[in-house]
Amino acid sequence: MCGIFGIVLREKSGQLGDMMVRASRRLSYRGYDSVGMAVATGDGPIDLRKDVGDVAKTNAQFGFDKLAGDRGILQLRWSTFGVPNQLNAQPHFAPGEQMVGAHNGNITNNPFLREDLQAEGYKIVSDNDGETLVCLAHKYLAQGMTPEETYTAVIKDTEGDFAQVMMRRDSREIYAVKMGSSLYLGLADGFICISSDLPSILEYTRNYIRLENGDLVIFDDKDYRIFRLPEQRYIERPVTVSDIDIENANKEPFDHFFMKEIHEQVETTRTLLDLYDHSGKWEGFVDALDAAGRVFMGGAGTSYHALLLGSYYFNKLAGLPIHTARGSQMLPLYERSIRDGDLLVMVSQSGETKDLMNVYNWSLTHPAVKTFSVVNNIGSTLALHCGGMIPIASYLEISVPATKTYTNQVLCFLYTAMKLAEKRGLKYEGITWDDLHRVPELVKETIDLCAGPAKALAPVLLPRFSMHILGHDMTHPVAMEGALKMKEVVYNHPEGMYSSEFKHGPLAVVDKGYPVLFVSLPENENLVLSHMNEVICREGIVVHVGQPSKGYDKICNYKLPIPAVGNPYLNSILSVIPLQMLAYEMAIMKGNNPDQPRNLSKTLTVD
Ligand code: M6R
Repeated sequence: MCGIFGIVLREKSGQLGDMMVRASRRLSYRGYDSVGMAVATGDGPIDLRKDVGDVAKTNAQFGFDKLAGDRGILQLRWSTFGVPNQLNAQPHFAPGEQMVGAHNGNITNNPFLREDLQAEGYKIVSDNDGETLVCLAHKYLAQGMTPEETYTAVIKDTEGDFAQVMMRRDSREIYAVKMGSSLYLGLADGFICISSDLPSILEYTRNYIRLENGDLVIFDDKDYRIFRLPEQRYIERPVTVSDIDIENANKEPFDHFFMKEIHEQVETTRTLLDLYDHSGKWEGFVDALDAAGRVFMGGAGTSYHALLLGSYYFNKLAGLPIHTARGSQMLPLYERSIRDGDLLVMVSQSGETKDLMNVYNWSLTHPAVKTFSVVNNIGSTLALHCGGMIPIASYLEISVPATKTYTNQVLCFLYTAMKLAEKRGLKYEGITWDDLHRVPELVKETIDLCAGPAKALAPVLLPRFSMHILGHDMTHPVAMEGALKMKEVVYNHPEGMYSSEFKHGPLAVVDKGYPVLFVSLPENENLVLSHMNEVICREGIVVHVGQPSKGYDKICNYKLPIPAVGNPYLNSILSVIPLQMLAYEMAIMKGNNPDQPRNLSKTLTVD
C-alpha cells in the first residue's frame, strides 16, 4: 500500500518535523517497513533521512519531529519492489541530490525502465521502483521540460498504478501526481499539504480536494494549480469541507483501534439502521437489484466475505441469485457471460481497491451494463463514478483489519434483501424488522459475553500454527472472515471452509490437540454434530462459536458464545464478533500490533 505526504509552509518553522510526524502516525497503517522524510528551506540542501522500521523507531533514530524547514515530503513503505532495507526506503534522491521524490503503488514495468535509465547513465542504487520514478522525472526536467511536460512524459513511460510526490531544491513548489492511487490536497491558512489519505489531512484542515487519476498538482504554501495530464489543460476542482470529526479518531480508552472498532459496532450498526430507516438511501440499490437482468457482486478480502453472506440473504429472503466473485476473479470468471442490463455490484470499504477498479474500468467499455457500489468511503472513486451507490456509514476505519465495516456491509445486505422481498411481494420467514433493530443491543451483549471466553481460549490455540474454522450455511462466510482476521493479526494459518467439505480430505490433518472451530447455527445441529464428532474421535480440540445449543454445548471442548438470539440471521451477523475478539487476544498475547500490517523488516534479514 505505502503512504506519502508533502507540505509547504509559509516560512521556515521548527514545527515542520512535528507536523510531518503526526501525519505519518495517521498514515502508519499504510506501511511501516521503512519511514523516510526529506525537508528543505529556501534553496538550501535537502536533508533526507530514512531507514527500516516504523514511525516510533525512525523518529527516535533521526529526530524527525525536531526537523525545521519550509517544506518536506515523507513516505511510509510497505515493501513490494525490493526487500525492506535502508537502500530501498523512500524518498529517493535523483542524481545530484537536487530533487527528491517518493511514491506509493507499483510501477509494473520498473525492470525495463530501470535498465533503460541505467543504459542512459543513471546510477540506480536500490531495487525500488520509487527510485526509478524519481530518475525518470529528473531525466525530463534536466532536458528543460516544465513539470507539466515532465509528467506527461513520465505517465507515457510508466505502467501500473501509483501516486508520487516530489520536491526540488531550487523551487518552493511541490509536485504530486495521481495515477491510480488515492491522493488528497489539504488547503489551510499558512500551508498546503498533500497526502495518500484524508485523516492525515484532517489533522490540520477540513478543506480538501480529492484528486482524480491523471491530475498533476503543483503547489506552494498558498497557491496550487491542477493540470490534467491526459487532456493537457488546467482545471478547477471543487473544495470539500469535511464534517468528519478527527478527534474521534483516537483509540482511547482502548489500546488499539482494532478493539475500539469492535466496540464501535454497537454504534455503527445503530447509525446504519437509523440512516436507512429515515432516508431513502437504500432505495436506489433495491431498485437496481430488482431491475437487473442478473446480479454479479465482487469484493476483495473482508468485503468478499460480506457479500458472500449477503448472497445467502438475497437468495433466502428475496429469491435473488447473486453471482459472486472475488474482485480480481470477476472478469476471468464472468466477462463473456455478462450481458446488457446486468448489474455489477462492487463492494468495498475504501471504494478504491484496484481489483474492483479494473472491473469498473471494464464496465466503461460496456455502457449497457449497470454498476453500483456498496462503500464506506463516499468520496471514493467507486462511490462517485458507479451508476449508483449505497453507503454503509461506518465512519473512519483506522485499524487495517476490517471489523465494523464488515458488520455494516452484512447488515446493509440483510436490510436490502428484506426490502427487495417486500418490493417483490414475497413472503419471507426467519427475520422481522423488530428482530433486525435488535442488532445494536445484541452486538453489545455479544461483546460482553465473549470477552472472557476469547481471552481464555487464546493461550489454548496459540501454540498451534494451523487450525480450521468451519461454517455451514450462512456461517460459512463468517468462518472465512474469522480465519482471515486471525491470519492478518496473529500471523498463523487458520483455514476457513465449509463444514461438510472438511471430511473430503482435510480431516486427515486432525491429530491430538488440533483445533477446529465450528461456527454453527442450532438449526444445523444434526449435520454439524457429526462433523464435530469426526474431530473429537481424532482427539482434536472442538470449539463451538455461536448461541447456546444443547447438542453443541454437550460435546465441544470450548465455547465462544453469542447470546441466545434464536434467529439464524441475527446469529450469522453476530457470530463474527467472538472471532474478531479471539484474533485480537491472540495477537496481543503474541506481541503483535493488531492495527497494522505485518512489519516485514522484523522478519526478513535486512542489510
Ligand atoms: O477497501 P476494500 O473493502 O475494498 O478492501 C478490501 C480488502 O483489502 C480488505 O477487506 C482486507 O481484506 C481487510 N483489511 C481485511 O481485514
